[in-house]
Amino acid sequence: MAVNVKPHPHFPAIYWTTLEDGSRKLATKNLAPEKTVYGERLIRYRQAEYRLWDPYRSKLAAAVLKGLETVPIQPDHKVLYLGAASGTTASHISDIIGERGYVYCIEFAARTIRELVNNVCEFRFNMSPLLMDARFPERYSMLVEAVDDIYCDIAQPEQAKVLADNADLFLKAGGWIMFAVKARSIDVTKEPSEVYQREIGILKTRGFQVREVIRLEPYDKAHVMIVAER
Ligand SMILES: C[S@@+](CC[C@H](N)C(=O)[O-])C[C@H]1O[C@@H](n2cnc3c(N)ncnc32)[C@H](O)[C@@H]1O
Repeated sequence: MAVNVKPHPHFPAIYWTTLEDGSRKLATKNLAPEKTVYGERLIRYRQAEYRLWDPYRSKLAAAVLKGLETVPIQPDHKVLYLGAASGTTASHISDIIGERGYVYCIEFAARTIRELVNNVCEFRFNMSPLLMDARFPERYSMLVEAVDDIYCDIAQPEQAKVLADNADLFLKAGGWIMFAVKARSIDVTKEPSEVYQREIGILKTRGFQVREVIRLEPYDKAHVMIVAER
């Protein structure tokens, strides 16, 4: 069977590929042709190159596969990414926002950000790696412009507060957040649903309207993706 690629019916710059064995996988169009970020397969189709997007490695892909209705991150958007790690999901966001978009990548682990710089940002002109602690957004306020969306995946206690503090400084009015919540990294003594409710409560008190909460099993255990608007 020949490989083919089709735009996702709902989300701009996200694609469905059908592979030789008939299986369907998510993909994004590669902004850095011939470069891979985490060993993902590259597919050439009609003069363009696509990167398969692994839902076991990226919670954003997992959320799309689990039936997310809104992906606020879109072509031309400016995005602030908290907890970019070595760039797995951030690189797909770079593909989605494209040449006129920009993603500011906050990461506080020096070894991890080195991989982000050398393997990802080096080849992508729409990304900045910032070795910064997301708990102190005022320290990078001179380096980051107002953004359309914030993607937060820091897996730390107080992450809803950290996200809201960043939104206060950088999120445009009417902007959106995508918030990956790992229950175990907030409070190991509580049931995941109790933890999610608490994080959602914090977002509401900080002025967000929560639009969707998607569980990420089986791709990620005890994780949800929260999508909210301010
Ligand atoms: C679960 S990983 C992120 C994975 C990544 N979002 C992806 O999908 O490719 C969480 C990352 O957040 C970073 N992190 C945790 N707390 C942070 C903070 N306060 N400031 C900046 N980075 C932080 C960690 O070093 C780690 O690399």
